[in-house]
Amino acid sequence: GLVNTREMFAKAIKGGYAIPAFNFNNMEQLQAIISACVEANSPVILQVSAGARKYANQTLLRYMAQGAVEYAKELNGGKGIPITLHLDHGNSFELCKSCIDMGFSSVMIDGSSLPYDENVALTKKVVEYAHQHDVTVEGELGVLAGVEDEVASEVAHYTKPEEVIDFVTKTGVDSLAISIGTSHGANKFKPEQCTRNAEGILVPPELRFDILAEIEKKLPGFPIVLHGASSVPQEYVKIINTHGGKLKDAVGIPEEQLRKAAKSAVCKINIDSDGRLAMTAAVRKVFIDNPAEFDPRKYLGPARDELKKLYMHKCENVLGSAGKA
Ligand code: G3H
Ligand code: 13P
Ligand code: NA
Ligand code: ZN
Repeated sequence: GLVNTREMFAKAIKGGYAIPAFNFNNMEQLQAIISACVEANSPVILQVSAGARKYANQTLLRYMAQGAVEYAKELNGGKGIPITLHLDHGNSFELCKSCIDMGFSSVMIDGSSLPYDENVALTKKVVEYAHQHDVTVEGELGVLAGVEDEVASEVAHYTKPEEVIDFVTKTGVDSLAISIGTSHGANKFKPEQCTRNAEGILVPPELRFDILAEIEKKLPGFPIVLHGASSVPQEYVKIINTHGGKLKDAVGIPEEQLRKAAKSAVCKINIDSDGRLAMTAAVRKVFIDNPAEFDPRKYLGPARDELKKLYMHKCENVLGSAGKA
């Protein structure tokens, strides 16, 4: 069945790699995630956001994830891989409880936009309920720049290292999401925060590895989570923009920095936007190259193939989770 993140994270911390946390909203994304992680022999966290629940229905997504456990076994001769079903950015106790009651094996309670004491109280309440059901909980301290939880925060508030021991001790969380310069979506930095290379491509500023190091010093061996970790591959941006798309100043986190993060206490890396870009690039290409095509399998199929390639690349070349199932 689905597993919580406890053992996954313990092994990832020891082994110096990170578990991929991929968002899914439909069958093709789920197939791509599972087939890629089986082929890479990587554990995986399937994430369901509020947007995904609205789009695809929580019940349907939960049965799809449970089905994915069987699908993984079918793909690799009965062995399967460790699979977690995780609520991404839960914003209330009731929502977390509903997911726990329904069979999610992990939840995030994101109280990062609340005053500190309210974040502590809410997170603690979720942890108390979750742990009765052997479900693990991710909390968050610090606010990512950009749009998070449908609340636009213009500026990032980096995680304060002086708060982390108190937060983890008071709440009992199993992992902590931090803010060190990442943000959600395909435009992670404003052009004016970046420099440009010779080809005119935006080069973003470095993540705040100094803050991560301070947090690690305060919480040795404690699992840290990195949200907003898409790299925004410029190959996809280019395909999209040469096939009718209009993505402006799209920029992500360079892979080199994610490799570095994966070797640290960061043991869960969240990736959604890169998958969206891969699918969109593949679909736009089919429509431009073959305008007579109208069978959804003929464009969702290539989108799924491209996604699988992307996810395998993440496991094998960036997060280091390949071979760790
Ligand atoms: O947290 C952000 C994830 O990329 C999910 O996004 O709410 O549009 O599904 P979404
Ligand atoms: P990206 O938008 O960088 O893919 O981040 C996804 C995320 O953090 C989901 O919680
Ligand atoms: Na790690
Ligand atoms: Zn996130």
